[in-house]
Amino acid sequence: MTEVKENWGSRVGLILAMAGNAVGLGNFLRFPIKAVQNGGGEFIIPYLVCFLLMGLPLLFVEWGMGRYGGKFGDHSTPFILDNMTKRKFWKYFGVFGIFTNFGVIAYYTYIESWTLAYVWESIKGTFIGMDINNVSHYFDQYVDINDGVINLPWKALGFFVVTLAINIWILSKGLSGGVEKAAKIAMPLLLIFGAFLAFKGLSMGNTGACADCDATMAFNFLWEPNFNGLWNFKTWLEAAGQVFFTLSVGMGTIQCYASYIKYRDDIALNAMSAGWMNEFVEIVLGASVVIPIAVGYLGMEWVQNNAGFMMAFKTMPYLFDQWGAVSNVIFGVFWFGLLFFAGVTSSLAMGTPWMGFMEHEFEWGRKKSAIVFGIIVFILALPTILFFQQGVFDEYDYWTGTVSLVVFALAEVILFGWIFGIDKAWKEITHGADIRVPIIFKFFIKWVTPIFIMLVFIGALIKPKNDDWGIAWNSLTSGNGWIFDKGSILHQLFRFGEKTIWFENGHPTGTFFIDMSRLLLVLTFAGIAYLVHIASKRRENKIPIEHND
Ligand code: ALA
Repeated sequence: MTEVKENWGSRVGLILAMAGNAVGLGNFLRFPIKAVQNGGGEFIIPYLVCFLLMGLPLLFVEWGMGRYGGKFGDHSTPFILDNMTKRKFWKYFGVFGIFTNFGVIAYYTYIESWTLAYVWESIKGTFIGMDINNVSHYFDQYVDINDGVINLPWKALGFFVVTLAINIWILSKGLSGGVEKAAKIAMPLLLIFGAFLAFKGLSMGNTGACADCDATMAFNFLWEPNFNGLWNFKTWLEAAGQVFFTLSVGMGTIQCYASYIKYRDDIALNAMSAGWMNEFVEIVLGASVVIPIAVGYLGMEWVQNNAGFMMAFKTMPYLFDQWGAVSNVIFGVFWFGLLFFAGVTSSLAMGTPWMGFMEHEFEWGRKKSAIVFGIIVFILALPTILFFQQGVFDEYDYWTGTVSLVVFALAEVILFGWIFGIDKAWKEITHGADIRVPIIFKFFIKWVTPIFIMLVFIGALIKPKNDDWGIAWNSLTSGNGWIFDKGSILHQLFRFGEKTIWFENGHPTGTFFIDMSRLLLVLTFAGIAYLVHIASKRRENKIPIEHND
């Protein structure tokens, strides 16, 4: 093993990079849509409870694990976990902390590339004067959603390559010279753009464009707490999923970033600062842009019926046009620029576990690690681009952006609080702390958080059809078996009652594309596990080094 030269340049840089890791497309696109789809104010209480009982404790756990690993020169989860237990199994479980990032970044950088393309198109004035149907159609054409014919979306592919190249270039500059610098530029710009857009959203009020075209209604809907959500298990699952995604917990990125902190330095205040900064951006800025502006011109009812992730692309350019041609360009650049910066600071984080792993275990240089990373991501991303409408994109999001996060978070909180031991774990979290961490978090980490995540996991595993637990339970107790939802993990794995058909009339079916994308993900996992195996063989012949004190 070589002495890794990477380090953070400053505390501000570290916090901005960590906040940049968390603040991403999830804050501006995923959060507002999830909130609308789950009843607005009904979503907010389960969401905040999940943040306090699951999100914050997991941040402490991951920062603690990361800095502990860094003490031994480990920068990715396979060997961070290994060092905490010395049981082979955990080293391989740690593969999740690299694998998940490959899966997520493959489709995440693709979305990032749409935002870059839309900045470009906004500058060119492409959307000026377009009605909503044309704006929506433009997007469908861009990603090649057509009547089932597979074409090469050259433009989308081109912007994707440019976006990926930007990521690779920054990664190859290292932690302080690349990632930290990018965060120091992107985060303030993102906040400025976000503030402008949020101000527009907040000051819009009633536009008179339709009967319910009143942006204030959107804020009341989103922010006014409503206790009904407390009794809906689906709302809890969705809230928990959003907390995982937005904080980037269960991915392995936080551990990697934290592993470059000096052992004597604080992690408690840092974790709190980055976590709360993310929540501010999510709840205040994220909720003040897409939904209120859309309600202002399309109405509350339209938004409630049509809210979806693609709204950012399929409606926003039309909405900006309502403020005139110049605003169309300026706000288009602000909005898609904001999304691009938010996306880049997160995707860079997804690249660092691989970088840390290859640089440290195989003595690869930054450039080589970054380029190989880029090639693998390109191969993984290609199916999401070419077979977007065959569901490959959603498949990656399901397994790597949702299921993997929960599985890994559950495992690591059990490892930290129970196997490593809660007293040692607490010592790790509070060591060098610049704040007094409330002792209640010790209890949360040992009991509440693991039980909470376990419930979320079980809920996702056996999610009943239409989220109707009563009907599924009655069916089970009357001997007819549990009625699984198609989105439940077990149904996804075993496809109860459905035949797997790969070809029909000589053409591949949707299932074929889904299964091939699963195979690709499994091969990626196996490939990383193999690298971990080789790395441990190499380690057996070397003496471990303690550093970063
Ligand atoms: N945490 C990142 C986001 O919210 C992945 O987009």
